[in-house]
Amino acid sequence: MAGIEQLLRSRLATAFALVVEGHVDPAVQRSGHADFQSNAALGLARRTGSDPRALAAKVLAHADLDDLCDEIAIAGPGFINLTVADGVLGRMVGAMAADERLGVSTVEPETVVVDYAAPNAAKEMHVGHLRSIVIGDAAVRLLEWLGHRVVRQNHLGDWGTPFGMLLEHLVDLDESHADLTAVGEFYPAARRKFDADAAFRQRSRQRVVLLQAGDEATMRLWHRLISLSQQYLMSLYDRLDVRLRETDFVGESFYNDRLDGVVADLEQLGLLRTSDGAQCVFPPGFTGRDGAPLPLIIRKSDGGYGYAATDLAAIRHRVGALGATRLLYVVGLPQRQHLDMVFAVAAQAGWLTPPVRAAQVGFGSVLGADGKMLASRKGGTVKLADLLDEAVERAAALVGNEEVAAAVAIGAVKYADLSNDRVKDYVFDFDRMLALNGNTSVYLQYAHARVRSIFQRGDATPIRDGSPVTVEHPAEHALAIELLTFPVVVDQVAESFEFHQLAGYLYGLATTFTAFYSKCPVLKAEEPVRAGRLVLCDLTARVLRTGLGLLGIAAPDRM
Ligand code: ARG
Repeated sequence: MAGIEQLLRSRLATAFALVVEGHVDPAVQRSGHADFQSNAALGLARRTGSDPRALAAKVLAHADLDDLCDEIAIAGPGFINLTVADGVLGRMVGAMAADERLGVSTVEPETVVVDYAAPNAAKEMHVGHLRSIVIGDAAVRLLEWLGHRVVRQNHLGDWGTPFGMLLEHLVDLDESHADLTAVGEFYPAARRKFDADAAFRQRSRQRVVLLQAGDEATMRLWHRLISLSQQYLMSLYDRLDVRLRETDFVGESFYNDRLDGVVADLEQLGLLRTSDGAQCVFPPGFTGRDGAPLPLIIRKSDGGYGYAATDLAAIRHRVGALGATRLLYVVGLPQRQHLDMVFAVAAQAGWLTPPVRAAQVGFGSVLGADGKMLASRKGGTVKLADLLDEAVERAAALVGNEEVAAAVAIGAVKYADLSNDRVKDYVFDFDRMLALNGNTSVYLQYAHARVRSIFQRGDATPIRDGSPVTVEHPAEHALAIELLTFPVVVDQVAESFEFHQLAGYLYGLATTFTAFYSKCPVLKAEEPVRAGRLVLCDLTARVLRTGLGLLGIAAPDRM
């Protein structure tokens, strides 16, 4: 089903093509002056040195819009303003009500790997990991809903030299029968011992050697530590209501026996150079501050493999074994250069060639109220579990029901993240994220529940048979336009993963609905107006619920 915006765009594109050479994007957009506006004539006239208003008039003379619009005007320096006819809106809204997918079409499916969460084992997660989980989960939900095959990959940091110290700490704890559940304390405690105790340092180094040699007893210890970490992480993922599963853990260790192959193949391709004893690739286009080419270190001078080698092996696995044609990395922006270099080297090596492509879905930092990196009261990392506890506690003060409180709390944490431009830093603020008014998830959840309650109160069922509905009142007109924009927003976000666009859209829909509901009685209206308004209500609730669902946020029927 073609959306209204799509129809207007294609009609105008046809008209532009009759007037000027070459393809012109009519740049149809929502507008405050009419339903839609095209400003394409302005830029085009500037480039060709003609009069923009005259050009707009010429385009309109060739445009076939009469069946869609009841008002077509040229405004200001050459904008084309379009107002959609109520009858057209009524037909389209009726059709949308009959569509389970609310006008959003499915895509040509691709296999998409989403690399997200990626915490480090035996270490407390920080809020950066929370962002990766929340944004990654939304990306997974959106891609799956569009029809893609999504392969979730949780690139757990489960290998490397710190594991010597971590395993020795585990040995010590077992001897004193200590509790292993306090994952957050595990790493710092091991670190303290490592720094203070020379004998422990010695044992830790020996343990790394044993680990790398695959010593059986050491591997048993390692497996235990990893599985404890995974259990702890899974408990958090479940609380967060995200789609990550145990089987999605494909940690750095998984690539161990593939790293030699990476080096051998890079060597054979003639891409490896030795620099300061390390084996490196210098991908073109990457230079340091001094202008010198930047190395991506594949193998360190001590013979150990680094983070980059693992990421290269992961690309080969994801493209080769998993069959992915699109790789998404939901990783913080500080790792941008690392990922860009990894992608560049993989491309050079022929492991990442079109149509296969990789991209970072990067994000900024989480800040505290003081504008600095979010920290706990004591100044350390904020424990995710504590943060969720506090969110639930605060939400419980807002709503009675326990299940609803959890949905409100988790929704608030996710929405605070997703409603902000992801490439920017955002301030973590409980008061703001749980505000009942404004662009918050709890506002949207209430809006959704309020619409649902109309049907309960009136014991009414919405018509979903595709028949046209009556649209007459300006508030009905505005709500219809807003509803019909949903597919356009979804398509845009599927390209950009800028979830704040979807959040902003849902907020706009909720406020447009509020205006409609204050001006247009629903249950008390006469037929056929009543039936039409019920369809508008039904669609509002469904779009809110679906949209929130794409963000990973539940929309309870009652609050
Ligand atoms: N474990 C890393 C960290 O905590 C993030 C890994 C991101 N994914 C990747 N394939 N490099 O910073």
